[in-house]
This record gives sequence, C-alpha cells and structure tokens, in this order.
Amino acid sequence: MTSSKMPCANGKISVAPSILSADLWRLGEEVQTVQQAGADWLHVDIMDGHFVPNLSFGPSVVSSLKGKTDLPLDVHLMVEEPMLFIEPFARAGADLLTVHIEAKDEVVNALRFIKKCGVKTGVSIKPGTDPALLEPLTDLLDLVLVMSVNPGFGGQAFLPESEEQIKRVRSIIARSGRNIWLEVDGGINPQTAPLAVKAGADALVAGSAIFRAADPVLALKQIRQAAPDI
Ligand code: DX5
Ligand code: ZN
Repeated sequence: MTSSKMPCANGKISVAPSILSADLWRLGEEVQTVQQAGADWLHVDIMDGHFVPNLSFGPSVVSSLKGKTDLPLDVHLMVEEPMLFIEPFARAGADLLTVHIEAKDEVVNALRFIKKCGVKTGVSIKPGTDPALLEPLTDLLDLVLVMSVNPGFGGQAFLPESEEQIKRVRSIIARSGRNIWLEVDGGINPQTAPLAVKAGADALVAGSAIFRAADPVLALKQIRQAAPDI
C-alpha cells in the first residue's frame, strides 16, 4: 500500500513540527520552511470531535502532503474508532500511524491492522494513563507517543508530571530490548524540550512553539539545541 520512510530509533533526537498550529492558508510554504530548517518528520493531528472535543484534518490533507514533502508523515489519530480510519490514512500516505490506547477499538487489533497496511505503528497514552498497559504491546510497536498535555488543542502548557510518565515508558522500552521511538507531544518549546529528553524522549512534537513563532526556523533550531542528541 505504502512504503514507510520512517527510520528506526537510533539515538538521535527527531523533531516533528505539528501542522495543527500552521497557517493553513500557506500550508505548503509552512511545510517547506520547516523541512529546510531541518525538521525530521511532519506531525499530523487527526481529531474526530469524539475522542477529543475538536476537529482537524481528514485523509485528503495527508494525500495533499504526500509527494510534496520528503518528510515522513507522522499521523496521530485522536479518534474513538481507529479501525475506521487506519486504511484511509494508510492509502493517503501516512508513514506512521499512532492510535490511542484509550480509544474504543481494541488496540492490538488496530496495531496489527496498521502493520498489515505496511505502515509503522505507534501507540499513544494520555496523561494519567498507566504506562504499564504498554508492556504487552511492545512487540507490535515502532513508537510510543507520550502526551504531555490533554489531547485536543495546540498551545497548552507541558504538564510537569509528564517527566515521570516519560521515564516509566523509557524503562518499559529498555526492558523490551526493541528499538522503539519515544515521542513526546504537547507544550514542547526550548524550555521544556530538555526536560522531555532527559526523561527519555528521542522524538519531540512541537506545534505552536514552531509555527506561531516570529521565526519558525530559529524556533526549530532552538528546540534542537535545547535537546542535544542523547
Ligand atoms: C494536541 C496535539 C499536538 C499539538 C501540539 O492534542 O496532539 O500534536 O499539535 O501542539 P503544541 O506543541 O502547541 O502543544
Ligand atoms: Zn499530536
């Protein structure tokens, strides 16, 4: 269906700008800017108005990006029924599909279906969800996405309790012996990026801190410098 461009976790910090905070009037330009500034992935937030109290993009936005940018498309499904949406987003060109462990559909089925579609797999946990729930899933995972805000909106503040959550996920990944990315999403900026990386993150999503900055190129560089490779 699609050949995934996501690399394996390799100890380098990846920065994934979230287009939720981009100026959609100039989406193409915004994406080119972050690509030239050295972004590693492009984070695409999908919201269904049920799992979170907000709506965002559908598969057509992903297919519009596919082929126009070289950045791997990191698609975060904040939807109640991921089984309905995995195939459409895989066909649209997602390189990685992340589903929430708190969604209605059985997470193992969703992860197996993502794999069957030839796409890298991710699972996300909200603040307050017990990371131990990830333990039986590690064989199926390419990435864990730790939410450091309650999902639904850009521009919220990084929750301090996320550091403990990230540490717990990092130790579960270490015990699994597998190469699994640990991505952190929500309130990441040059001040919070080092906290997330010290706790064990190796991929950082940043929306408002990049796209709402006066100088997105500088903002991306500052986040990368604040979070030197581990
Ligand atoms: C929030 C989304 C995030 C959001 C992050 O529910 O999952 O990806 O775009 O935005 P910032 O970086 O502004 O917190
Ligand atoms: Zn996200």
